[in-house]
Amino acid sequence: MGPIRAEIAALELSGITRVAAGALGDPEVIPLWFGESDIVTPSFIRTAAQRALDEGRTFYNYPRGVLPLREALSRYHQRLYGLELHPDRITVPGSTMLSVVIALQCLASRGDEVILIGPYWPNVRQACIVQGAVHVDVRLLEGPQRWHLDLDAVRAAITPRTKAIYVNSPSNPTGWVMSGAEQLALLELCREHGLGLIADEVYHRNVLTGPDPAPSFLELAGEDEPVFVLNGFSKAWAMTGWRLGWMVHPKSLVTSMAVLAECNNTGAAIFAQYGGIAALEEGEGFVAEFTARCRRNADLVMERLGRHPRVRLLRPEGAFYAFPRIEGVTDSLALARRVLAEAKVGIAAGYTFGDGNESHVRLCFAISTERLDEALGRLIGVLDRLE
Ligand SMILES: Cc1ncc(COP(=O)(O)O)c(C=O)c1O
Repeated sequence: MGPIRAEIAALELSGITRVAAGALGDPEVIPLWFGESDIVTPSFIRTAAQRALDEGRTFYNYPRGVLPLREALSRYHQRLYGLELHPDRITVPGSTMLSVVIALQCLASRGDEVILIGPYWPNVRQACIVQGAVHVDVRLLEGPQRWHLDLDAVRAAITPRTKAIYVNSPSNPTGWVMSGAEQLALLELCREHGLGLIADEVYHRNVLTGPDPAPSFLELAGEDEPVFVLNGFSKAWAMTGWRLGWMVHPKSLVTSMAVLAECNNTGAAIFAQYGGIAALEEGEGFVAEFTARCRRNADLVMERLGRHPRVRLLRPEGAFYAFPRIEGVTDSLALARRVLAEAKVGIAAGYTFGDGNESHVRLCFAISTERLDEALGRLIGVLDRLE
């Protein structure tokens, strides 16, 4: 491949896209493979972005995000957590995914190790590989009532090359919501070993069984600790197509963040940022409605899928995914493909969420309850036919 880096030439599609490619847009398929609902972004958010366009906000702008949005984010954190965050600590580089990339750029050089608390969203592993970093998986323990963190396993995975730990709560795909005590223990471990922490809190408002918002590392970390708290608009306000997210970063990195935002994306689309302000300031009604739907749907999944004799499923505490283990299955990709072919339901293969997930599949339950019910019926039909 000549000058192309070997790890880039070797990249493979994830076990989400590998199943979906080829059937995308097929009207017969009920799509539960991606992390989004079937709800169009609420109209008050669309209107704010349209107004920004009509006002001529179509130019380059400050790469760390426009000040009115960063100020609105500062107020949002004050309202939600009672925290004073200076807008200098907030950068809006583009999507939450881009914030993952930037946080890794800050913390991991070629050959450095990054511990990924799994099961995790596969794009994070891909971002480590692209960065030239080595990902080390530490899986949550499953059950009996909930997923939980094995801090000793994390400690045992730390080597002299470890630079950072990535953790996502509420979690895609498990629905685990980390308690404040678990967060503090992990943060202390990072402090003890001088590690950076990447806390992906993009599902902070998607809480199914506990208080909203979910506990945040922002409530624990000092303003100049090497802690990056990532968040975004996709999941709470149905804005997946807007590619808009924010990161709260160490105070001393303001200039570095401006340069990184500039050389990665030169900032998020400016009219989208005005939509973001409307989401923060007028979006609580939508967040409550959407949460009610997801809670109802989680109950439905537990009732229908959770009771199937082949299924081991812990009740999700947050986000909007079920991550069942299917007894007897050893090839999650083959199962996801079979479900697509026989039942026309799109699900994601478990193996892609890190080591130890070959018997799992992930399904997103954020779509309308009626369609979800139909999809569950079809999926259960396939499970009934498994040998
Ligand atoms: C854990 C996690 N982090 C980040 C993202 C990406 O969010 P965004 O759409 O803002 O890039 C996702 C999307 O599915 C996710 O599940």
